[in-house]
Amino acid sequence: MSNLEPMNTDGAADLLGVEPVVTLRDVRVQYPSGHTALAGVSLTINPGEFAFLVGPSGAGKSSLIGLLVRDVIPLSGEVHVAGHAVHALQPSEVPYLRRRVGVVFQDFRLLQRRTVRENTAFALEVTGAPREEVDAAVERALRIVGLTALAERYPDALSGGEQQRAAIARAIVGNPELLIADEPTGNLDPLISWEIMELLGQINQLGVTVLVATHDSDVVTTLRKRVIGLEGGRLIRDEARGTYHRAG
Ligand SMILES: Nc1ncnc2c1ncn2[C@@H]1O[C@H](COP(=O)(O)OP(=O)(O)O)[C@@H](O)[C@H]1O
Ligand SMILES: [Mg+2]
Repeated sequence: MSNLEPMNTDGAADLLGVEPVVTLRDVRVQYPSGHTALAGVSLTINPGEFAFLVGPSGAGKSSLIGLLVRDVIPLSGEVHVAGHAVHALQPSEVPYLRRRVGVVFQDFRLLQRRTVRENTAFALEVTGAPREEVDAAVERALRIVGLTALAERYPDALSGGEQQRAAIARAIVGNPELLIADEPTGNLDPLISWEIMELLGQINQLGVTVLVATHDSDVVTTLRKRVIGLEGGRLIRDEARGTYHRAG
């Protein structure tokens, strides 16, 4: 990160500008069934990076994403995200972690009885942020995702792509350090998938670190971003400007 970039004052890691946003060290995840979902996984993601997470169904992509927001607790190893030692986090600290990390899912997960604007505002309102601050952040998030004109609609009056944009607005409204998307285009057709991936790229250009789990091989291979490959719970490759399928 260059020292010409604007700093945010939210923690020493940001001030130094050199700490990774994500560090996994020899992480193992085992579900109560005894199934090992991740083993020996180590990686770092630096501020400003855009990375794809790929691998067949069951490879451990969603488990890895769950680790980053403490939905999933590792059996062993370390998980550091946005300056938090997530593997050792006290339950009372989890909300502070989640404010630094936005997450979007394949199935959008919008509140059906709230408008786009209300869905977007909700995450900030629960932090007790002042009204004017919430309003300004919501306007900005809706503008970024291109939903200003549809702000008063309910989710069931939106297309799939619009619903995913609303979910992205909600994920970025708190100005997170990291935006994670777990198969964000899994329910969308190819043209709309491209638009959503382009939007995630634009948000990355605004300075947000982005991690996207996806099966969208055309998008991954065309964009030539970092590709982190999982298979059977193991990290099998990590390539700058990679393709969806392992080269060679
Ligand atoms: N809550 C759970 N309980 C037991 N096993 C699980 C659970 N979640 C995922 N798994 C198993 O862990 C493995 C990895 O799953 P997941 O992380 O969802 O992979 P992916 O997102 O790459 O499809 C799979 O074998 C899956 O069946
Ligand atoms: Mg998954």
